Parts: sequence; structure tokens; C-alpha cells
Amino acid sequence: MYIYADNAATTKINPVAMDVMNKCMTEVYGNPSSLHSAGQKAAEVMQKAREDIAQVLGADFREIYFTSGGTEADNQAIYSAAAFGEKKGKKHIISSAIEHHAVLHTLQRLEKEGFEITLLDVGEDGIVRPEDVRQAIREDTALVTIMYANNEIGTLQPISEIAAICREKKVIFHTDAVQAVGHVPINVREQNIDMLSLSAHKFHGPRGIGVLYVRKGVPLFNLIEGGAQERGRRPGTENLPAIAGMAAALKEVVSHMAAAEEKVSSLRDILIEGLSKIPHARLNGDAKRRLPGNVNFCFEGIEGESLLLLLDNKGVAASSGSACTSGSLDPSHVLLALGLPHEVAHGSLRLSLSEENTKEEMYYIIDAVREVVEYLRDMSPVWEALEKGEKEHVI
Ligand SMILES: Cc1ncc(COP(=O)(O)O)c(C=O)c1O
Repeated sequence: MYIYADNAATTKINPVAMDVMNKCMTEVYGNPSSLHSAGQKAAEVMQKAREDIAQVLGADFREIYFTSGGTEADNQAIYSAAAFGEKKGKKHIISSAIEHHAVLHTLQRLEKEGFEITLLDVGEDGIVRPEDVRQAIREDTALVTIMYANNEIGTLQPISEIAAICREKKVIFHTDAVQAVGHVPINVREQNIDMLSLSAHKFHGPRGIGVLYVRKGVPLFNLIEGGAQERGRRPGTENLPAIAGMAAALKEVVSHMAAAEEKVSSLRDILIEGLSKIPHARLNGDAKRRLPGNVNFCFEGIEGESLLLLLDNKGVAASSGSACTSGSLDPSHVLLALGLPHEVAHGSLRLSLSEENTKEEMYYIIDAVREVVEYLRDMSPVWEALEKGEKEHVI
């Protein structure tokens, strides 16, 4: 049995998107900026992709900027709002302690450049409180950036409420919606979102392509200089096969999003129920206000990395927290933000599901995790001390 349960890291490409990309590479190979008919054909395909993506988001096609992915979109949104704010003497930015590093590290750089950054704490449920955003906004606040859904614990943030506060206070609001787009309904216009980042490979599209949505009227500065592509805001010859593949994948996922949400969240709930029965286990993040496919657990006395390797041997592909930090031995900043002690934050397991997963796979995963946790605990001196009562359980 091989079970892929790491869809928050990346997803398998959708065959429809694959076909569109193949066709683009073999038949629509012109440069969209060229005036000849091959170029114009490419420009048409790109325009259609832009319109399709805009429609899904509830945006206008002129508000869509193609980027190389979520990281670049986050960087551009934040640097741009910071540059615009600085011109007006505003050098304060509000974000949360559980953001992806594409946001956090960008903010750290701005801090070195003299910006003041307020990182809001989350509750034990992993959710930012809109009232905290209201309290934190100041006269000199240039930007509020809060992620739509967390990549480790899957918690869905109250984006509409937060964005409404920002609109009322006339502060630009950006959301990193990389984990959310294609999985939960989003409408930028109705939700008062000024800027939004998305990435195709999280919804069965290709890697290395994403979008920054920027509401008309919100200024956008370039990260890089070059030609006139993307209205001069993101120069460089467009990656047309990836752009068309992204639009096809997005249309495909949203065409049956409600059914997928229902199916995947019921698989998620089977896993949550089964894994909760393991002694001294804890679900991280709110049980319901989370992405349909996200499950994140800590098991006391267990090292996350060993758990993953042994699960891989049993044919289960999972992750400990985010793929971007799994190479480091630091505990997850997201789990620490939930108030978990260091030793517990080391032992997390993230399972992220897709529509392709089945109920049978969930039962297999529950058994596999239970066996591996028991095996690792049997070998662990820390666990022995806990069992003998020499150390106190924290879960
Ligand atoms: C919440 C979040 N933001 C940003 C990114 C970065 O996106 P990309 O891989 O397209 O650069 C990721 C990727 O894991 C993510 O989960």
C-alpha cells in the first residue's frame, strides 16, 4: 500500500492541466509579446487563463499578476505595501506569529530596514482574533497581512472579519491564500481583500507559477526590473504553459469544490477520531475551523522525524509541520505559537489529504501511526521516565 498524504507540501498534477500544458508547449509556443500570429495566439491563451482565474476569485482580469509562485507573490505584496507606506511615513506592519516563512522572513528583512512589525499571537485554537487586529492598527500602519489557512495546522483564519476592519481603517490587507485557494470558497471582492497570493501546485497545478491579485486602486511596485510584461509590474517572458495549466487546474478543482470539501473533510474527521484514541496524543488547531484535508497531531515522547521515516517504510507519505522547515531541528514556530512546550512541538505529524484518498487508507494510516508511536515509545528513555512518573505528562 502506498498512501500520499502530503498534499499541503505539493499535489499531483491534474491530467486536464497536464494536457493543456502539453498543448501549449507543442502548439502555442509563441511569445505573447510578439506581434505575429503565433504570438497573438499565445496572448489569447494567456488572456483566457487570466480571465478564468479572475472569475474564480471574483476579481477583474486586470487585477491578476502572474508570479513564479506563492513565495514571490507574498514578497511582492509585502515589499510593495511597505514601499508605498514608507512614502507616506507609515512604517508599521501587522501580521501573525503563524505565517509561512515567505511572509515572516520578508517581514524580518523589513524590520532590519527600520519597519516596526507586530506579530499577533493566536489562541490555543490556532486562530487570529479580529479584535486583536483592530487593537493593533495604528495611524502609521502600512499593511496587515494574515494568512487564509495555515500550512501546518490548517486553521482557517477569520479573513472576512479582519479584512472588513482593515477596509474600515483604510489599511491595505493582504492574505497569503496559498493553502486555501481551490480548497475553500474565496471571493476577493465580497471579502474586502486588497491583495492575495496563490500558488498552482497546491491545487493540482504545476509548480513555479502563482498569482498575486491586487485590487484596482491599490498601488503595486516591482520586485525586479525588465520589460513590459504584467503591465510592467512583473517583467520577464511569461511561462505560458504553466499559466494555462494553473488556470485549467483551478477551474477543475472549483468545478466540484463543495463535493470535494465534503468528502475530504469526512476523511479528515475519521483520521482525527482514530488518532485521538492514541494515548497522550493531541490534535493541533481547531477541530472544525481547519482546511478540509488537514490533520496535525503531536504525540508525547515522539520525535517527528523518526515517526515520518517509519511511516514512510509503511508506505505512508506524511510530513512533520511544513516541508520548508523539516530540514531543520528547530521546533515549528506554529506549534510554539499555540503554546506547546518545545519537546512536544518537535513531535508533530501533518497528514494532508486530497480527493484521491479513501476511507480504507484512513484506517490503514490510523493503525500504522498507532504501531509506530508504540514502537518508538517502547524504545524511548523519555517515555520510560514518563511512565514511571519521574517526569510529568504534558499531553
Ligand atoms: C502558506 C504558504 N505560503 C507560501 C508558500 C510558498 O509557495 P510556493 O511554494 O509557491 O513558493 C507555501 C508553500 O508551502 C505555503 O504553504
